[in-house]
Amino acid sequence: QAAEKGGYAHYMQKEIYEQPKAVRDTLSGRVTEDGTRVVLSELGWTEDLIKQIDRIHIVACGTSYHAGLVGKAAIEKLARIPVDVEVASEYRYRDPIVSRNTLIVVISQSGETADTLAALRNAKALGNRVLAITNVVGSSVAREADDVIITWAGPEISVASTKAYTTQLVALYLFAIYLGQTLQTIAQDAVTTYVRELQALPQKLDEVLQSAPQIEEIARAFAVWDDAFFLGRGIDYYVALEGALKYKEISYIHAEAYPAGELKHGTLALIVDHVPVIALVTQDELYEKSLSNIKEVKARDAYVLGIAWAGDEEIAKSVDRVLYVPRTLPFFAPIMLIAPLQLLAYYASVARGNDVDKPRNLAKSVTVE
Ligand code: G6P
Repeated sequence: QAAEKGGYAHYMQKEIYEQPKAVRDTLSGRVTEDGTRVVLSELGWTEDLIKQIDRIHIVACGTSYHAGLVGKAAIEKLARIPVDVEVASEYRYRDPIVSRNTLIVVISQSGETADTLAALRNAKALGNRVLAITNVVGSSVAREADDVIITWAGPEISVASTKAYTTQLVALYLFAIYLGQTLQTIAQDAVTTYVRELQALPQKLDEVLQSAPQIEEIARAFAVWDDAFFLGRGIDYYVALEGALKYKEISYIHAEAYPAGELKHGTLALIVDHVPVIALVTQDELYEKSLSNIKEVKARDAYVLGIAWAGDEEIAKSVDRVLYVPRTLPFFAPIMLIAPLQLLAYYASVARGNDVDKPRNLAKSVTVE
């Protein structure tokens, strides 16, 4: 097993470090050589088929659901198609309104999650087209869906999902650009910019991972607390949800993600002296609003770790500690933000002496309903 971990202490740590390669592999062959178009030849869709899609339902569980939330933001922005995202165990029992031209997108790392598979089967029974985004070629979800986009993350062993999430995001970004370029809801210049920026992400991720020693030190200090709060606005909030999930599932510390603007409607009551607050601040148009939320928690003496773009000197004045990530398009921020959050959870779990790769009560693939 030590050899399989390739010198890392845990599979999770190894998988976090595999992310630059996983992103590169997931992009590979899916953009033209001149970097001006996305090609998803595995779909083989015609322009007519794409034009008929009037709504998209994304259905998934756990971390895959969190990727779906970012996917909604990307698809709605680039392709202007309305998207709903729902956890599979809710979606399948509530008789959702599904028009004939609603595309169902199921996201599943394993391709075997019972509720996700059941939602897929319901959609197929209704006669709707189902696209699967999965990491396992030949999984049930991959076999039963009409179309499949494989995330080339490679085998993920640790129960807490890391590189699968990142590659699900990449697949969703590619899909959103693909829809947008076909529907011409985005200009050619923008397509080129998006593609170029996607291709720069692996290198930037490598840079992010170099802050591991700082993150370890912060995680050790945070791990003595029984709570942690993750705040963000817009897409940052979706990443906060995934950051909190990672944190709670392996450190067993209560972690809550909140849209920063909602704080004063409840969570602010829980903010006490020195409690760790992790504030994600990458969305430029929400910057001032986020800073004022940070001031609200600082006024209650929380200890705030800000995660922001490199070069943002303003943020340093409002928080106790900053972690900088290389700048990319605000839209791709989740890829930059998630690695520090994964490392924070990882080191908090190590500090607490937990079984990082096999957290109590949790399974890698949930095949029961
Ligand atoms: C379990 C795993 C999570 C995963 C979720 C959905 O809860 O522990 O890491 O996100 O199932 O799994 P899937 O394979 O469908 O993505």
